[in-house]
Amino acid sequence: MMAALQELQEIGSEALSRIGAAASLADLDSVRVAVLGKKGSLTQILRSMGSLAPEERPLVGKAANDVRGRVEAALAERKGALEAEALQSKIAESAIDVTMPGRAPHVGTQHLISAIVEEMEQVFVGMGYDVIDGPYVETTYYNFDALNAPADHPSRSPRDTFYVADPVHGDPAREARAESELLLRTQTSPVQVHAMEAQKPPIYMISPGRVFRPDTADANHLPQFTQIEGLVVDGGITFGDLKGTLDHFTRAIFGKDRATRYRPHFFPFTEPSAEVDVSCGVCGGKGCRFCKGTGWLEILGCGMVDPNVLEMSGIDPERYSGFAFGIGAERVACLRYDLPDLRMLMTGDMRFLAQF
Ligand code: DAH
Repeated sequence: MMAALQELQEIGSEALSRIGAAASLADLDSVRVAVLGKKGSLTQILRSMGSLAPEERPLVGKAANDVRGRVEAALAERKGALEAEALQSKIAESAIDVTMPGRAPHVGTQHLISAIVEEMEQVFVGMGYDVIDGPYVETTYYNFDALNAPADHPSRSPRDTFYVADPVHGDPAREARAESELLLRTQTSPVQVHAMEAQKPPIYMISPGRVFRPDTADANHLPQFTQIEGLVVDGGITFGDLKGTLDHFTRAIFGKDRATRYRPHFFPFTEPSAEVDVSCGVCGGKGCRFCKGTGWLEILGCGMVDPNVLEMSGIDPERYSGFAFGIGAERVACLRYDLPDLRMLMTGDMRFLAQF
């Protein structure tokens, strides 16, 4: 009997220490099975009660029940503790720190060139101009002939113009046969001709868009860039109208404290013609590296529409006069933001683009 009591004592204390050390519900269950299960150590003792003397049975039975009671209580208590621990760690894991900065969604912005073009459009729309579109693929008629460019004008060379089909230029026999070749427009000026063909004066229009030239990209050239063409045709339009309009434009874009100057120039489709410079924003006109020491930066070409050009497009030059201008959008962006290299606009580098 003493041996059975001793054994019960050991079973009890071993079970209690294993329960105390159990790290999971599974551990706990394996202790339960080992002690209280069908083949468990305590169950085995109870089964062997038959071999004890009848007077020993109540004593051993009571001790066994006692051990079972303590083991069951310890199991229940440990189970509760493990469940509470699991709940705590689950709460800790899934907790949201509401003070943490959120992940900002990546929002795109308008490209600097699109923004500048839109801003220039607004200035002219504010003066009552229409905004019209023109084709990128043009004919030599619209890009050159109708703009008064002579047949031997150097800009017609395939070195200065992208021809869409094999150029006939330079081959007199083929030149004579071909009335008009296809090319990528080298300027937005052909839209002037489309506008004059499509509507009668008064015409007040601008036309922004891309133009193409076989130039290698460098700090001052791009093979593809953006121009904004302007055309006004109405009764009694003078050079004073041109100057007033473009002065208003340059102040609106560059600020009131920037001066402008008109330098005589030549364009085949305007007479007289001028190039317009705006005073350098970096040095305030004193002369610096940005303006190559001159104090001035060129921003556009302009002039009074040549009577020939009006006539070719079916407008009576005795009745109407007009002015035209062509502005380089990338140049305006560079001058406004003091960008040293046109290619910066083409890289798609977000660190640069996101600044505007
Ligand atoms: N088309 C000219 C160029 O690409 C720019 C220009 C100059 C346009 C004078 C005009 C103008 O309308 O009147 O260089």
